[in-house]
Amino acid sequence: MGRLTGKSTIITGAASGIGRAAAELFAAEGCDVLAVDRPGSDLTFSHAQIRVMEQDIAQDEAPANIVGAALAAFGKLDVLYNNAGVSNSTLAAQMDDAQWDWVMSINLRAVFRLSREAIPHLVKSDHGRIISTSSVMAQGTDYGLAAYCASKSGVVGLTRNLALELGKFGVTANAIMPGAIATGMTRASFANEDIAAIWAKKSPLRRLGQPIDVARVALFLASDDADFVTGQAIAADGGLTLRV
Ligand SMILES: NC(=O)c1ccc[n+]([C@@H]2O[C@H](COP(=O)([O-])OP(=O)(O)OC[C@H]3O[C@@H](n4cnc5c(N)ncnc54)[C@H](O)[C@@H]3O)[C@@H](O)[C@H]2O)c1
Repeated sequence: MGRLTGKSTIITGAASGIGRAAAELFAAEGCDVLAVDRPGSDLTFSHAQIRVMEQDIAQDEAPANIVGAALAAFGKLDVLYNNAGVSNSTLAAQMDDAQWDWVMSINLRAVFRLSREAIPHLVKSDHGRIISTSSVMAQGTDYGLAAYCASKSGVVGLTRNLALELGKFGVTANAIMPGAIATGMTRASFANEDIAAIWAKKSPLRRLGQPIDVARVALFLASDDADFVTGQAIAADGGLTLRV
């Protein structure tokens, strides 16, 4: 019996990195998974319990499409894992509205809209969970990351409020703040060995994180082990943020 046997979940951004690792881990733990990513993404999985859906989560119709597909496939929804995210690098003084809106529409607005669509179904579950991938950049900063940092702080604020409003229905809401993880998002940077070494050395554990390091935290939050955990933002960063 797996830790998520009998549960069903939606995972966004599941074609790559953290979302792919979570989809495979959740399925290995007995969960029915709807793996969602952008049209044209590589959504091939070998696990029979993973269904796939190509959908841009920032589109107006995305929440109804995605939640509808999960209900059609599984008949219920227990866990929503908002994981898809994007980043850009533009100094605030130079950032135009389109750049700001692109990051916010995927990293924050879509998280709110998908959560809102899922809530009536999570309330019906005896195990309702909302998990969202934020970032250590919810609290940290870096040049060019104004939109990204604002969006990831927003995810933590949204998570805390969802936890407050949904607690009486037995639904929890938590966020994960990954540190430097080797994924599609960081591939170009970490292809430079010097940059990868700098980020690895910043962690007391002296390594970059791997997608599975974050997926395991998501599994904990999705499982019965986290029954009494809500409104939290848990860093999965190898201690990256211990030093200022
Ligand atoms: N990699 C890191 O160091 C790091 C650190 C902190 C937080 N994060 C967060 O982790 C999450 C997962 O990212 P990752 O690092 O695995 O990167 P990744 O690029 O490997 O995966 C992100 C996935 O999200 C998908 N996606 C992006 N926009 C989408 C949209 N509009 N609709 C549907 N899917 C969309 C992408 O196609 C991609 O498959 C993101 O929210 C990211 O901000 C990553």
